[in-house]
Amino acid sequence: MNYTEAYEKLDRYGQTHVLKYYDRLTETGRKKLLDQIEAADLSVLDSIGSKSAAGTWTAIEPLQGLSLEEIGQEREEFTRKGMEAIRAGQVACVLLAGGMGTRLGSDDPKCMYDIGITRPVYIMQRLMENLQEVTTAAGCGIPFLIMTSDRNHDKTVRFMEEHAYFGYDRELVTFFRQDMAPAADYQGRIYMESMDSMSLSPNGNGGWFSSLQRAGILDRLKAGGVRWLNVFGVDNVLQRIADPCFIGAVIDRDCACGAKAVRKNSRDEKVGVLCRQDGHPAIIEYYEMTDDLLDAADEKGSLLYSYGVILNYLFRIADLEKTLAEDFPVHVVEKKIAFMGPEGETVSPAEPNGYKFELLMIDQIRSLPSCLPYEVEREREFAPIKNKTGRDSVESARQLCLRNGIQL
Ligand code: UTP
Repeated sequence: MNYTEAYEKLDRYGQTHVLKYYDRLTETGRKKLLDQIEAADLSVLDSIGSKSAAGTWTAIEPLQGLSLEEIGQEREEFTRKGMEAIRAGQVACVLLAGGMGTRLGSDDPKCMYDIGITRPVYIMQRLMENLQEVTTAAGCGIPFLIMTSDRNHDKTVRFMEEHAYFGYDRELVTFFRQDMAPAADYQGRIYMESMDSMSLSPNGNGGWFSSLQRAGILDRLKAGGVRWLNVFGVDNVLQRIADPCFIGAVIDRDCACGAKAVRKNSRDEKVGVLCRQDGHPAIIEYYEMTDDLLDAADEKGSLLYSYGVILNYLFRIADLEKTLAEDFPVHVVEKKIAFMGPEGETVSPAEPNGYKFELLMIDQIRSLPSCLPYEVEREREFAPIKNKTGRDSVESARQLCLRNGIQL
């Protein structure tokens, strides 16, 4: 893209200030900025002020899932089916590690966080150890894809190299970067990070599949016979990855997708809840639940909307591919955004100062024909690390690890 084309593109969105310092840049700086402008999807800016999904929830029904008890009754058969798919090379794993982990407040990628007490135990180490329990039992490897962002890619790769992939076969590991989106102030004006760069941030965890495809990895996986992708977040250190029983259950029930879920521990627990809307699976965020939905119960008094998602899904690739052409809604999220001050210095605000634009995985699930809620035991499989202290923190995750016999 040349200067004129870049100017025209920016002008359509009232953002020509992005080129303000162009004359003062070196050739390299100019190219960097023009490349950024070419790659940037500026249409996300139109989402500012648009209505969120909140309040649009009508025609909701419960989504039938598999309870712990039901899973227990069929565990052997599900596990056999899942192992069969793993051994046939039909399953790959996707770790979503492109987030910024701002709540944890570390400058390093979240996967590098050390939760050890008497020895180092990194978040990534916990994930790789859990995965290797399955590969050892299966007697074969599983492709492991790691989504990073421009912000944390190099550090993540270096960390894995330094730790020799925590014993995993590095030939099975592939990194890919997610797309980035510009961040803007409350007036919708793109922030600059430096004279030759806009403030860019990862475009949310819902962009993983299109990023995987654009990186050419999807075709490679399919050619190798992969049919299912187990996708999960970085921060649950008790995460069961490529869980054969889960995989077998979703295959057995012939669903496009499966979602690991915990039973809500209280009416008001802050988790997204699985349901059906207009014949499609959907996830309602806790802040969108009405009192009617929160209290809805069956004749035995059990809550009808009680399966809270834990960001661990199994997707059938063939069904995901049909969603590639769809435009998912852009979520406008208030965040702290570092920007260039008047003297060219970097300003890191203490409070949110603008908007980031994110695609969310929950919207992807809505466009699939079916999703199987699969209940897991919270104490054994759910130890998320979002914050430094308090709820979903390093402290609470440590306690859960220790209770599960994991030496820290
Ligand atoms: P979170 O919603 O916890 O976001 O991500 P975050 O950016 O990691 O943390 P905060 O909100 O700034 O504290 C849930 C999962 O989705 C991944 C994260 O890495 C995590 O595994 N994610 C999130 C991405 O891969 N890309 C994104 O753009 C956002």
